Amino acid sequence: MSKLSVHIETFGCQMNVSDSERVAAKLLDSGFELTDAADSADVILLNTCSIREKAEQKVFQRVGQIKHQRAERQPLVGVMGCVAQLEGEAIFNSSTTVQLVAGTGATERIPSLLERVRGGETRVLDLGEREEWAGFEIPTALRHSRHVAFVPIIEGCNKFCTYCIVPYSRGRERSRQAFEIVEEVQKLWAAGFQEIQLIGQNVNSYRPKSEKGLEGFSGATPFSRLLRAVASEGIPRIKFTTSFPRDFHADIVEAMEEHENLCNWVHLPVQSGNNRVLRAMRRGHKVEDYLEKVETIKNSRRAISLTSDVIVGFPGESKEEFEDTLRLTEKSEFHGLYIFKYSKRRGTPAAKLDDDVSPDEKARRFLALESLQMSIQSKIYMEYVGRKVEVLAEGFSARSQSDLTGHTTCQKVVNFRADKEVIGKVVKVHVTEAKAHSLFGQLV
Ligand code: 5AD
Ligand code: SF4
Repeated sequence: MSKLSVHIETFGCQMNVSDSERVAAKLLDSGFELTDAADSADVILLNTCSIREKAEQKVFQRVGQIKHQRAERQPLVGVMGCVAQLEGEAIFNSSTTVQLVAGTGATERIPSLLERVRGGETRVLDLGEREEWAGFEIPTALRHSRHVAFVPIIEGCNKFCTYCIVPYSRGRERSRQAFEIVEEVQKLWAAGFQEIQLIGQNVNSYRPKSEKGLEGFSGATPFSRLLRAVASEGIPRIKFTTSFPRDFHADIVEAMEEHENLCNWVHLPVQSGNNRVLRAMRRGHKVEDYLEKVETIKNSRRAISLTSDVIVGFPGESKEEFEDTLRLTEKSEFHGLYIFKYSKRRGTPAAKLDDDVSPDEKARRFLALESLQMSIQSKIYMEYVGRKVEVLAEGFSARSQSDLTGHTTCQKVVNFRADKEVIGKVVKVHVTEAKAHSLFGQLV
């Protein structure tokens, strides 16, 4: 039989990007071909996100598009990831185009599941658990970048914040063994990667089954021991995301102070600046606890940049409660803030509450917070003008082939004029201009 060509489309977070890399590697290993061309692919795999309603709608829109675009020869469509895990069999009923539904644990089994479809089965479903991550390598060419690599360290979530679907779509927290993570980082460094990002829904809740790989490393929590273990491998840049406030121990900042290659960026979602709302969200932290962590981060001798997530219009959030979020935002001086309008997720505890903040009011709160954040952020970004920053040159900028783009250690996007020879290197850039979400400069 000829090789089937597979086109993978990824929606959502870094964990999905990472899963797509793994599927691609598994497919190639099992005799499939990969293609960038959706139009001519035999198989289209959609790796889906369900964090908000809009993300979920995108998937069904895409399935509809595929169905209508290709009347003469239908590709086989597979739905994987979070929507697959949550909706399961129901996806087959909503669309006859979809022949494979593979949940978040089935990533590694997709090649054999596709073989079953090829063998004549029309509705192949796998909502089983993930096999071990161990002993499995992703070839450099299949990574989303040749310079920055995602390394999953923990999957799932046990926190059950009342608005959030993740504990249901990704299951309970499972940590990868430290020695495996360290080994993967060693290999990535040897393969020429300059930066790794340790990823997980809550990286600082990291709790592996054993201390293997962490022996000899100090730290108040397994996560800070892991940071020290990974940092001592010498790869130039290590970032980690996302951190959970309640488990954010000061020792993480200490580890960053000890190791230059632990980059000065922390993403610490706060979600709300009001204690009643935080309680209703079941976040496990108060405003005061959060601000204490902010102080620890700001008082560090490393210039750590702090970014966060906020939800506006959670059920029952009053105008005054929302204004507390404005106040917290002002105090925290975030370098970046992702703002989301509350979106009701079926099956979560908050779905039982009345989604009573009107769409207009959610939009108003969104804009008010965004405008405040932009005024804070523009001041922070302006302070970079005239300074020299170290940037990992990751490729051409989206706008122009004569400019390159990359990130600072504090996760700012920097576009700069330079020759393509420097791609893949950490270079010094003189910042000449600050834009809303990026900096512009010249190679030094
Ligand atoms: N509605 C809106 N935003 C949400 N997030 C998670 N669940 C929801 C929801 N139901 C946001 C949170 C989280 C980010 C990844 O997505 O801010 O930190
Ligand atoms: Fe969702 Fe809360 Fe878990 Fe984050 S910590 S993934 S917001 S349940």
